[in-house]
Amino acid sequence: MNNENYDQATREQWAEWARKKEAKARSPLAPLLLKLYKIPALRRRVRKFARRHEGGEYFSQTLRQIQRDFYGVEVGAYSYAGCLFPGVLPRGTTVGRFTSVSLRAHFYRNNHPFDWLSQHPFFYHPKIGPHSADLRDQTDTNPLTIGNDAYVGDHAMILPGCARIGDGAVVGGGAVVTKDVPDFAIVGGNPAKLIRWRYPEDIITRVCESQWWLRPIDEVFKWLPEMMMPISNDLGAHPLLRIATESANKSTASVKAETSVAATTLS
Ligand SMILES: CC(C)(COP(=O)(O)OP(=O)(O)OC[C@H]1O[C@@H](n2cnc3c(N)ncnc32)[C@H](O)[C@@H]1OP(=O)(O)O)[C@@H](O)C(=O)NCCC(=O)NCCS
Repeated sequence: MNNENYDQATREQWAEWARKKEAKARSPLAPLLLKLYKIPALRRRVRKFARRHEGGEYFSQTLRQIQRDFYGVEVGAYSYAGCLFPGVLPRGTTVGRFTSVSLRAHFYRNNHPFDWLSQHPFFYHPKIGPHSADLRDQTDTNPLTIGNDAYVGDHAMILPGCARIGDGAVVGGGAVVTKDVPDFAIVGGNPAKLIRWRYPEDIITRVCESQWWLRPIDEVFKWLPEMMMPISNDLGAHPLLRIATESANKSTASVKAETSVAATTLS
């Protein structure tokens, strides 16, 4: 799509498309679907129904609630694929909005206890040995956070040393990630190293500050051609960034004002 000047009516059509999808995101049958999901034999069908009737997996709220209630994974709006497929992300993971995770990425939060006499699961795993609980450090103590608009490629392997994949980060195909991935870094290889940054530093700061991913989806879709433009120093070419930054600044200013009123009241 070229960056032509699209007229207001065309932009409104894109926004309307997004509003319609969003309006379908929670089926009236959601409470029933969540009950049915307790029956293992129905799980695939429940997920398929939710995808089909809630505007696709990008929008479906039931799929997000299934991830939260049954698998302990918190997934933001419009994130998809591995984010919503049970078993890809470990319990305790939080994912932001607009994030892409390959179905074939692998995530590990714990190692076998290699400092014990034996690292075999007989000696710690409740399903394999005679214990009622995992005898290693609790499995939920190493939660993973994946930011907004991040992208985890095919066959990437995320090891326990990585606790955060930043906003806008890219994990290349086959990367073996042993450390946190900073916002807007592109990493790859084994062990994963920085390949390059997506944008220059000052632009990364401005995109992070804008938090455009929190804007209402119909507003985002009004700026469809601008979403597809490579980012440059001319941030004015990206009106959503300007709008989002102004809004983020306003809410920071109002939090500051509220805090100072509260401080004055207390003093
Ligand atoms: C990481 C990635 C996004 C980089 O894209 P790019 O910037 O166009 O990469 P280039 O081909 O220009 O390569 C740039 C450098 O990074 C290296 N590189 C690229 N991808 C790499 C990877 N996955 N692992 C290790 N090194 C990688 C290249 O060898 C090259 O190194 P050099 O400068 O020393 O020659 C891309 O290669 C990738 O891995 N994409 C994931 C694809 C995928 O999994 N898709 C499924 C999505 S669900």
